[in-house]
Amino acid sequence: MHDIRFTVNGQAEHATVPATLTLLDLLRDRLALTGTKEGCGIGECGACTVLLDGKPITSCLMLAVEANGHSIETIEGEAVGGELSVLQQAFIDEGATQCGFCTPGMIMSARGVLSRTPNPSYEEIIEAIAGNLCRCTGYEAIVAAIQLASERLADDAQKGRLP
Ligand code: FES
Ligand code: FES
Repeated sequence: MHDIRFTVNGQAEHATVPATLTLLDLLRDRLALTGTKEGCGIGECGACTVLLDGKPITSCLMLAVEANGHSIETIEGEAVGGELSVLQQAFIDEGATQCGFCTPGMIMSARGVLSRTPNPSYEEIIEAIAGNLCRCTGYEAIVAAIQLASERLADDAQKGRLP
């Protein structure tokens, strides 16, 4: 067993975990953060995407012990004080979520690209979500939602509002 310390959505966490436990299982089963979805479990679908130190990763392929000393962000950290984030609202406004299974992972990948590139091109958005599979939407509404969030965040920054 290994003692690990890390943060999830800014909150300090501590856990004692076996070497084989995945970060996905730590989040879902130990911390009850079930917004992060398990689809394939083998790194193919992106449903389990979270941010590790700001970078999107597939949590089903990462061991929990590797999270020691790192910062994790999950979909549960998006809404603050009961208010949807700009990205979440843009997904609703563009009709970018249908069954919703891919949505948490999509939003974390979108969060990753927007933090690196506040005004991403169409191609950069496509590349950012290339590892996230969606069986429902046909992707165009998702790309439009990320573009809309980018525009709204730029507008908020100009007006001095927080994202
Ligand atoms: S559940 Fe991790 S990539 Fe599919
Ligand atoms: S909304 Fe159903 S898988 Fe994407």
